[in-house]
Amino acid sequence: MLLEVKDLVVSFPTPDGLVEAVRGVSFAVGAGKTLGVVGESGSGKSVTAQTVIGLTRGARVSGSALFEGRDLLKMSRDQLRQVRGSKIGVVFQDPLSSLHPFYKVGWQIEEAIRAHEKVSRAEARRRAVELLGLVGIPHPARRVDDYPHQFSGGMRQRAMIAIALALNPSLVIADEPTTALDVTVQAQVLELMKRLQAELGMAIIMITHDLGIIADMADEVMIMYAGKVMETASRHDLYYEPHHPYTTGLLGSLPQSGHEGERLVPIPGQPPSLIGPPPGCPFWPRCGFAMPKCRLEVPPLRAVPGAPGHTSACWLPLELTGYSVEVDAARHLAAVAEGATAVATASGAEEAQP
Ligand SMILES: Nc1ncnc2c1ncn2[C@@H]1O[C@H](COP(=O)(O)OP(=O)(O)O)[C@@H](O)[C@H]1O
Ligand code: SF4
Ligand SMILES: [Mg+2]
Repeated sequence: MLLEVKDLVVSFPTPDGLVEAVRGVSFAVGAGKTLGVVGESGSGKSVTAQTVIGLTRGARVSGSALFEGRDLLKMSRDQLRQVRGSKIGVVFQDPLSSLHPFYKVGWQIEEAIRAHEKVSRAEARRRAVELLGLVGIPHPARRVDDYPHQFSGGMRQRAMIAIALALNPSLVIADEPTTALDVTVQAQVLELMKRLQAELGMAIIMITHDLGIIADMADEVMIMYAGKVMETASRHDLYYEPHHPYTTGLLGSLPQSGHEGERLVPIPGQPPSLIGPPPGCPFWPRCGFAMPKCRLEVPPLRAVPGAPGHTSACWLPLELTGYSVEVDAARHLAAVAEGATAVATASGAEEAQP
């Protein structure tokens, strides 16, 4: 494995109490593979990624993150800075916060290169032009001398990708890289990342709140909620054989091709506070299948039979996978047999019974 994160726990002491942002997260990314990390806002995706690359300040951290065999969580600041940029490239949501407004785009790419490699300014500039061409900026030899504000939002995100790729990293962490872009540009940037991965062979961790983004990109998907992993699966199993009600809830809130005009069903309710989160399954207050046990005992991640790598942190019987009215009816029966009183519908919505 290129990156292997085990039992990552991250919390922030605040005046209101300890924010338990990441609560025992483990995952692995193979060389050249794409891991999609998906969950609603506040589920701990960014804190997970930022902790791995040493960018969380003031946090209490435990666990390990082996990258090419070395534990990133044990590295000094200087060592991490060396790894970041050269071996791990990072793309954030908002390129304006990462690109300096006062410096030409090309100059910033040159600096990124020269921070890690002893090359002449002329050579760095040659590579900056080449990189801008690689990420699809038209007339790169001319645009290299533009300032960030002269680029469109999509072009700025391409420039960020150029910087992330400047030193040929083996891993790129992209945190909501297209969230600030309109839908057409979003699709172009994702297409670009896919093409670059095919050409350059780097692994990608693609973080998003939108399951649709990774639909034709991720090899594996990890669903996060309230600082925990809810489900892991191959892309195929995640879309066609999901187990966790949170996953089916996210799928239910996606626009379905072929079902245009059908009302989307958002998951009712809000994620729990991460200051003193309640016991049991973190999803139970929103779950249409919640059983008495769910409120008391935290469901561990268990292996779904017959599907390597497919795990789910839910007390429902593990063989009940799928995304259909029939499977939901079976889930409902299983939940009632365990004492559940809520009525689940196919959409995952819930009506409490009197
Ligand atoms: N520096 C910080 N101090 C306190 N709480 C934080 C800090 N950074 C993040 N959090 C909290 O940690 C939780 C997870 O945040 P984050 O990882 O950014 O979520 P996501 O990326 O999934 O939207 C949130 O409740 C957020 O408010
Ligand atoms: S059935 Fe229980 S364990 Fe599974 S998601 Fe719902 S509340 Fe959590
Ligand atoms: Mg985030």
